[in-house]
Amino acid sequence: PGLCTYDPGFTNTASCKSSITYIDGDKGILEYRGYPIEQLAEQSTFLEVAYLVVYGELPTKEQYDAWVHEITYHTFVHENVKGFMQGFRYDAHPMGMLMASVGALSTFYPDARNIHDADNRHMQIVRMIAKMPTLGAWAFRHAQGKPYVYPDNELSYTENFLAMLFKMSELKFSADPRLVRALDVLLILHADHEQNCSTNAVRSVGSSQVDPYSAVAAGVGALYGPLHGGANEAVLKMLKRIGTVDNIPAFIEGVKAGNERLMGFGHRVYKNFDPRAKIIKKACDDVFEVTGVNPLLQVAQELERIALEDEYFVKRKLYPNVDFYSGLIYEALQFPPEMFTVLFAIGRAPGWLAQWNELIQDKEQKIARPKQIYTGDRTLTFVPREERW
Ligand code: CMC
Repeated sequence: PGLCTYDPGFTNTASCKSSITYIDGDKGILEYRGYPIEQLAEQSTFLEVAYLVVYGELPTKEQYDAWVHEITYHTFVHENVKGFMQGFRYDAHPMGMLMASVGALSTFYPDARNIHDADNRHMQIVRMIAKMPTLGAWAFRHAQGKPYVYPDNELSYTENFLAMLFKMSELKFSADPRLVRALDVLLILHADHEQNCSTNAVRSVGSSQVDPYSAVAAGVGALYGPLHGGANEAVLKMLKRIGTVDNIPAFIEGVKAGNERLMGFGHRVYKNFDPRAKIIKKACDDVFEVTGVNPLLQVAQELERIALEDEYFVKRKLYPNVDFYSGLIYEALQFPPEMFTVLFAIGRAPGWLAQWNELIQDKEQKIARPKQIYTGDRTLTFVPREERW
């Protein structure tokens, strides 16, 4: 009693035991349930990875078909959720709308409070993975003043998401399969990342035994921040501001002087390279083959080259992270910057839910309640207003 460790940002404190994701930051290793991210990105689909992350094993054919069927069946949301979303201002940020509408789902599914029943947890996990693209796409259509598009359950998970975003007529929507695959890979890369800020938020809120929609809404809020998922949006804005390669040296000097951060660089865990960034570079090539090269690619590549040779970044072990190139791909796929973090959230949903599911079954878990080191005054005597003023 009375003894505690001061560890702001939990840089050295394990908050849980988990068998979902393994990271070796020095070696640049990322594995979901023991499978290397490179193999999953190359050979798997987002929904298969979602099953793996949540349930710990690759699905059999029957399990996979049932999982895809269930998720497809739950893509629609209650009409009143639509009404709720339509109440936002025309310029509402889609992440704010996503956070609020995910939280609102808790009122539509009061059965979700029955968190100790495994079948019930499965139901909520399916619902949430199914509905995230619908909510995200509607937040996007809202900002554009366009009618919301209902899910098309004949399409795959990722193609249906693109249809809800970009469909402009009654004609059947179809996207270039290479672009659909690239987006699927990006979702796979984001599916889990152990105790990052938003997952920690989901676990922390979930430890109060609230329903999973409320816990995941907290995760969306954490992800919104520019030091976490919001970094992909910030990277693109930064690249646009830099504009041309000639402006890079002055920009780098500003970063070194502490005026701002080089967004998309650095990671709490990866100190050599981020394996996701390597895979994303390859996805960039695939997408640009279809869409033509994003002119900001040249700025990004030169920025990376200069930073990797600069002592400031080398000394601090700052390398490009997953967000450095993802924004360029999203932009090539016609997403506006405000949508980038929504894409991250849709990809991260299986991870949040897997971690929540693990937490609920973990007998050792307690309600999250860190200690503090109090630095304020003590035992003051209250002076009435008439004597103070
Ligand atoms: N640009 C310039 N300097 C940096 C950067 C950067 N991007 N990142 C860290 N530093 C410096 C920082 O100023 C500090 O320097 P000093 O020792 O002289 O004070 C040193 O490096 C250590 O930084 P830190 O803030 O203590 O490191 P952290 O592990 O707490 O932060 C981070 C990790 C990701 C928040 C940070 O690197 C950062 O802000 N990066 C930019 C934002 C970004 O790209 N975020 C996306 C992360 S990956 C996606 C995700 O999982 O969310």
